Amino acid sequence: MERGNQTVTSEFILMGLPIEPNQQNLFYVLLLAMYLTTVLGNLLIIVLIILDSHLHTPMYLFLSNLSFSDLCFSSVTVPKLLQIMNGQILPISYPECLTQMYFFLLFADLESFLLVAMAYDRYVAICFPLHYTSIMSPKLCLCLVALSWVLTISISLLHTLLMARLSFCASNMIPHFFCDMSALLKLSCSDTHVNEMMILILGSLVIIVPFLLIFSSYVRIVSSIFKVPSARGIRKAFSTCGSHLSVVSLFYGTIIGLYLCPSADSSPVKDTVMALMYTVVTPMLNPFIYSLRNQDIKGALGRIFSKRTIHSSLGQ
Ligand SMILES: *[C@@H]1O[C@H](CO)[C@@H](O)[C@H](O)[C@H]1NC(C)=O
Repeated sequence: MERGNQTVTSEFILMGLPIEPNQQNLFYVLLLAMYLTTVLGNLLIIVLIILDSHLHTPMYLFLSNLSFSDLCFSSVTVPKLLQIMNGQILPISYPECLTQMYFFLLFADLESFLLVAMAYDRYVAICFPLHYTSIMSPKLCLCLVALSWVLTISISLLHTLLMARLSFCASNMIPHFFCDMSALLKLSCSDTHVNEMMILILGSLVIIVPFLLIFSSYVRIVSSIFKVPSARGIRKAFSTCGSHLSVVSLFYGTIIGLYLCPSADSSPVKDTVMALMYTVVTPMLNPFIYSLRNQDIKGALGRIFSKRTIHSSLGQ
């Protein structure tokens, strides 16, 4: 070790997935298929909501924001991973790495805040059905979305700036498939205490506070249903809250699996597998959860396709 000639790392190598070389092709095809499904599924939701005026309600505007966020979240990491699996060992420069980390945090946090906005929307819809349109005005919706963006931009900027002051000098091999914040911290040769503290503080702001807000709006929804129990009310609540609740469970289920599951070895392998779960699987499933069980989305699909058929038969 020559200490005098200490070089500062200016680029990193992402090591990709911890799998055998003979499984690379299988995983490549699988990931490519899942990524394409994510892109197409979320684009379809966004286009449907833009095209169909029946879906211009707060719930669906939030949903299209959520789909946009899912689409971007997946696109921050998966294309690079596919490139790595394709056998291209591309070094990723330090600024590129920080940029990836920034956008990764941005869209992950945005999703969390949008889920809160959606929970508030369901709370107003079930508990104050008569005042719904006056409370959930376009102005309030825009404010909620704007607030989510402002919060998430500031939080990820803060993390990125804190990361930018660290220096990296030992290894430049990241045992992960994207520039993950904790993987980078492990490689740093500076003092990372402030970073770790901010991860803890901001992490709870982004995960626990939204969770409590969502939980309390569901507590109120359930108690308002049981105050005046009627089969119709319960059915309505289930049909409008079911999809949101499924997405929330998927989102927090992954987080709980990641952080709270007792694991003897906090190995890079487990981190990578869990990361695949939230970068690939969750964004892919969200549009399906919303479209499979949802009559409005199915109706919109039907209307768009029947319009197309009418046009094409008129055109002949
Ligand atoms: C996000 O939500 C806002 C406010 O409801 C809406 O105006 C906007 O069109 C949505 N954006 C996307 C990309 O869906």
